[in-house]
Amino acid sequence: MEFMKVVQNRVSCRAYDPNREISKELLVKIAEAGKAAPSAANLQPWKFLFVSSPELLEKVRECYSRRWIDNAPHILIVKGSRSRAWVRRDGYNSLETDLTIAMDHMILAAENLGIASCWIAAFDNEKLRAVLGIKSDEEIFAITPLGYSADGSERKREKKRYDLDQAAEFI
Ligand SMILES: Cc1cc2nc3c(=O)[nH]c(=O)nc-3n(C[C@H](O)[C@H](O)[C@H](O)COP(=O)(O)O)c2cc1C
Repeated sequence: MEFMKVVQNRVSCRAYDPNREISKELLVKIAEAGKAAPSAANLQPWKFLFVSSPELLEKVRECYSRRWIDNAPHILIVKGSRSRAWVRRDGYNSLETDLTIAMDHMILAAENLGIASCWIAAFDNEKLRAVLGIKSDEEIFAITPLGYSADGSERKREKKRYDLDQAAEFI
């Protein structure tokens, strides 16, 4: 797909077809896009977990309060290690920035493959850490369901955005 079309078409999908799984081949392509993301000092402090097994999916879903997630056949979890991320002299740690870029690469790669997603930050962090057995120096940054849109309705939704002159200045 043409890149600007991918960017414009992507919307947060909250209605998934529970009967259409994504092939391993396409999940790997999404992971490759995340791996290709830039990171400060190229430290790549990330790990991408693609959860597809019904037992684990059930537990992960319980860490988010909205029940629409139950229909998603896969959930991607982006986690990272703060001690592996680049630190600037003044103490700024690039973990969140690195993970944001990787997450965005994967969400856009998914869109390019016709796969829907929805960035979720409002998960129960403590509960999800316990479910996944996250190590003490690791952080779960974001999750997204991955799947095919149930009815295509989300894909026709208009993007609600401020006008370009409020978002950007060309000076
Ligand atoms: C950092 C971040 C956190 C978000 N967390 C949630 C969330 O917890 N639940 C949810 O339904 N959507 C979540 N979203 C999706 C936003 O609501 C959505 O991106 C925004 O409304 C714009 O709509 P669009 O993605 O369809 O263009 C999140 C998005 C971002 C970037």
